[in-house]
Amino acid sequence: MHRLASASDFASVYSIYMHEEVVPFLGFDPLSKEEFEPIFASLVRSNSFFVVELEGVVKGFYRVTRHEGRANHSAYLGTLAVSPDEKGSGFAFSMMTEAIKNLSAKGILRVELMLEADNPRALAFYKKLGFVQEGIMRSAYKRSNQAHYIDEFFLAKLLQPLLGGINV
Ligand SMILES: CC(C)(COP(=O)(O)OP(=O)(O)OC[C@H]1O[C@@H](n2cnc3c(N)ncnc32)[C@H](O)[C@@H]1OP(=O)(O)O)[C@@H](O)C(=O)NCCC(=O)NCCS
Repeated sequence: MHRLASASDFASVYSIYMHEEVVPFLGFDPLSKEEFEPIFASLVRSNSFFVVELEGVVKGFYRVTRHEGRANHSAYLGTLAVSPDEKGSGFAFSMMTEAIKNLSAKGILRVELMLEADNPRALAFYKKLGFVQEGIMRSAYKRSNQAHYIDEFFLAKLLQPLLGGINV
């Protein structure tokens, strides 16, 4: 079940987010519970952060932000992860398929995301879902425990064929 996160999801989200297999690929360096509290509160307040349950247990999450104005047909997907015990189980694929179906039902035609260049597993996962790499944001990401900067791949999926191109 996909539902908006609430304050009571703190412990579940914290344990997935800060897992050593997950935290290298999300937006913040490892944090204590106290340090994570305001970040989680802000995610809940945004009304755009979803948790996904399996048999009543939170096993994944993602955030969707719809763009405004002339880009209102597009949404940005971020803060996405599944519990490491569900990696490779197909749960993440169903979670994304359902999320995309819900976005399509709301009139979204294009879904965008950014991905660290050193995350080949997620790249393979998104390609399997039909995302296409559209660009590279050079040195856009840095972990505090590493000296180097990391490129971010910009990926997007069109949910239906769209008339496009500068000469249209
Ligand atoms: C990204 C994530 C949601 C994907 O879920 P998952 O259950 O691991 O994904 P799947 O197992 O369905 O798909 C991963 C694919 O990558 C392949 N893969 C695994 N390691 C790989 C590697 N090093 N290089 C290339 N492909 C790899 C797998 O074989 C699989 O492909 P297959 O189904 O054809 O065998 C999950 O791994 C996760 O939460 N990761 C941590 C957080 C994260 O990276 N979030 C994304 C930030 S943008």
